[in-house]
Amino acid sequence: MSAPSMTLFHNPASPFVRKVRVLLAETGQQDRVALHGCMPTPVNPDAHVVQGNPVGKIPALRLADGTVLHDSRVILDYFDHQHVGNPLIPRDGSARWRRLTLASMADGIMDAAVLVRYETALRPVEKHWDQWLDEQRNKIRRSLAELEADAIAELTSHFDIAAISVACALGYLDFRHPDMQWRSDNPQLAAWYADVSQRPSMLQTQPPL
Ligand code: BEZ
Repeated sequence: MSAPSMTLFHNPASPFVRKVRVLLAETGQQDRVALHGCMPTPVNPDAHVVQGNPVGKIPALRLADGTVLHDSRVILDYFDHQHVGNPLIPRDGSARWRRLTLASMADGIMDAAVLVRYETALRPVEKHWDQWLDEQRNKIRRSLAELEADAIAELTSHFDIAAISVACALGYLDFRHPDMQWRSDNPQLAAWYADVSQRPSMLQTQPPL
């Protein structure tokens, strides 16, 4: 086996990184990528990441020729064009826009959940903005309610960009926000997640305890 030609700037806690690693595992491409661990936060960017991605966010992917791709959506699309199996991002038609919209809702859940994490873990408690925190949590609850009401059959139908993204969002809620108890109001989503979280790609990419 040859050495990986690409470097993924990653942190195992990031749900955005996890999406990429799940897609790599689902498409048999893990060995193509070396992982470079880093822990950028909004108040402490990582110098290596900033070199390639001025926004300073992970994941970022350095290709063999030095080109850097970001963000997670671009990297997912890149790797989905690099395997010979069925695409995990539909190439065209209404399926493309629906699956990407579900993935975008999952990204919105991750965005809100990561912002809540930063606010509560990094900011001094006397500076916490409770109204803002409540609204981030409301975004999460509204999005979960819509997935529960409208998307279970679609998520169950195949483990593609939409399902990977929702699974990684739910995994992050379990990891950082168990107090939200998202399963209580979303039993179908909970049953679906109990199943997909046992896939090898999900087990291999679990966030650290
Ligand atoms: C976290 O520790 O929750 C985290 C780390 C990196 C990116 C996003 C979230």
